[in-house]
Amino acid sequence: MPRNRTVKDYIRTIVDFPHEGIMFRDVTTLFADARGFRMAIDQMLHPYAGERIDKVVGLEARGFILGGAVAHQLSVGFVPIRKKGKLPGTTISQEYQLEYGEAIVEIHDDAIQAGEKILLVDDLLATGGTAEAGIKLIERLGGEIVGCAFVVDLPDLGGRKKLEEMGMDVHALCAFEGE
Ligand code: PRP
Ligand code: MG
Repeated sequence: MPRNRTVKDYIRTIVDFPHEGIMFRDVTTLFADARGFRMAIDQMLHPYAGERIDKVVGLEARGFILGGAVAHQLSVGFVPIRKKGKLPGTTISQEYQLEYGEAIVEIHDDAIQAGEKILLVDDLLATGGTAEAGIKLIERLGGEIVGCAFVVDLPDLGGRKKLEEMGMDVHALCAFEGE
């Protein structure tokens, strides 16, 4: 493998998954590579060097893998946003749109204190529905979002625009556009 591989080079594309016509951007090949994974974590944090971050929030499921590593690197706590029914304590929930139908995500209501500075992490930004739900949950608890960091942006699906219109700082390591 060449030494100058970028994060994008480690991402595998699976054609027609989970159904025909979808080009699935598979980050497991990035996570499985020692250099690729470290590069991704370092680059996710790069824009926030020197900024106060109190907690990292990760979106189930692939956002947990990245978010845990990012939190460890910053020596801060990690908070999961999970799909409905998985968190044992008292939660608040937020509905969001899926391609077909809708879903609900939840956060423990004591996981974030008002005024805490939060970095939101997920693997991929598509329509932005999942991230938007996460942002709403964090803000309902009084968290202040410093940035939203992703490995992959799919700009054709409008998520970046949606989050930027909400006033978010969106940081993605690479984009797949018209390919
Ligand atoms: C994928 C991806 C993001 C989300 C992006 O997760 O990991 O979380 O979709 O899509 P959006 O911007 O259109 O909301 P998925 O819901 O497939 O679940 P998983 O991470 O638990 O596999
Ligand atoms: Mg996901």
